[in-house]
Amino acid sequence: MTLLRFPKDFLWGAATSSHQVEGHTRNDWSEWEKKNAVRLAKEAYKKFGHLPHWERIQPEAENPKNYLSGAACDHYKKFREDFDLAQSLHHNAHRFSIEWSRIEPEEGKFNQEAIDHYHEVLTTLHERGLEPFVTLWHWTLPLWLAEKGGVHSQEFPKYFERYAKHIVSQYKNEVRFWITLNEPTSVIGASYVNGNWPPQEKSLWRAYRVFHILARAHNRAFHAIHKIDSNAEVGLANILQSFVPYQKTSWLDKLSVSIAHFFTNEYMLRLTRGHHDFLTVQYYFHNRLKFIRRDHNKDHSESDLGWEVYPEGIFHILRWLNSFHLPLYITENGLADALDTKRESFIKEHLRFIHQAIEMGIDVRGYFYWSLLDNFEWDKGFWPRFGLIEIDYVTQKRTVRPSALAYGKIAETHTLEF
Ligand code: FCB
Repeated sequence: MTLLRFPKDFLWGAATSSHQVEGHTRNDWSEWEKKNAVRLAKEAYKKFGHLPHWERIQPEAENPKNYLSGAACDHYKKFREDFDLAQSLHHNAHRFSIEWSRIEPEEGKFNQEAIDHYHEVLTTLHERGLEPFVTLWHWTLPLWLAEKGGVHSQEFPKYFERYAKHIVSQYKNEVRFWITLNEPTSVIGASYVNGNWPPQEKSLWRAYRVFHILARAHNRAFHAIHKIDSNAEVGLANILQSFVPYQKTSWLDKLSVSIAHFFTNEYMLRLTRGHHDFLTVQYYFHNRLKFIRRDHNKDHSESDLGWEVYPEGIFHILRWLNSFHLPLYITENGLADALDTKRESFIKEHLRFIHQAIEMGIDVRGYFYWSLLDNFEWDKGFWPRFGLIEIDYVTQKRTVRPSALAYGKIAETHTLEF
């Protein structure tokens, strides 16, 4: 048996985001869901019919209700219970996001009730020994801002900075770690390159502009936060994907890897260079590229969503990020696995490679599994199950999955056993 020890002050936790768990949010996504639920249900077979377990997911995937976030996990009310569970699983940190549309439902008018709510959330976390990592924007927008063009508006950085200032002034004594934006590149890709997510504006020119607008928003917020609290640590949650060429000798395959790596992993970091106290890794995707096509490697195991599992990829990403000489946190890494047969080994395998990076002297300081709870997975709805904790969406009952206990044991002992 091998024992891999992690640093004593390593942070262990899980992540959530407001729209995906809170329930009853009213923002650009909730409105879009109402208009698109029937279409998404009809398209489910085309998107997921090829998956080996299609029959298991079909009833949910073909039901329009699956695509309405609605009450979600009712976490807005049940956060105490959920954080009790996180504490019982030996987590010592938790990442969550503040819902902008609750805080500023009307332009420039900040809602005191919502502000008090997140004070309570933070108090509850601290009482349970959970270090908060707070995301300011996890994709959903107040309706007034969506109407102005959302992240495609040149004014977005101004509005975001104002919101960030308001939030940080409120919570500066309770929060040390701030994450400004969640995965800008995912939004750019899904909303503006593929045109699948709201506002479904497919245009490469727009995608390019949004890159720059979001980078400006982050950079402005970075300075604003430090002005309010010089001890704050500010970062941006970046999706980082693993890319390898189908044939190592093919210059075309290698060229596609370089281009994909540049736009997916690197460009945002370049635009925000000098505006990070730490860097993050949100790792889900491995791509073997045969020129411009992704070639699914059948030897790899896959998630319920058909995403290829490749734990080694996280090691290469960490090695690359290390060249920026900043502390690193894994702020998301997780698996859709309703039957919970693969999650434990998924977590352990990824942690094994993270440990290998730490052994090499790479400064990795924490790991947040996605997600604490099953939740609303954007345009795919509720059927993908990422949670350490299972949610029964009819009764809102929480059930701790076996893999959560296995991860809890690692968090408790700071040791990974093989
Ligand atoms: C990430 C998102 C998160 C969740 C996971 C599965 O890209 O940040 O909200 O949807 O994927």
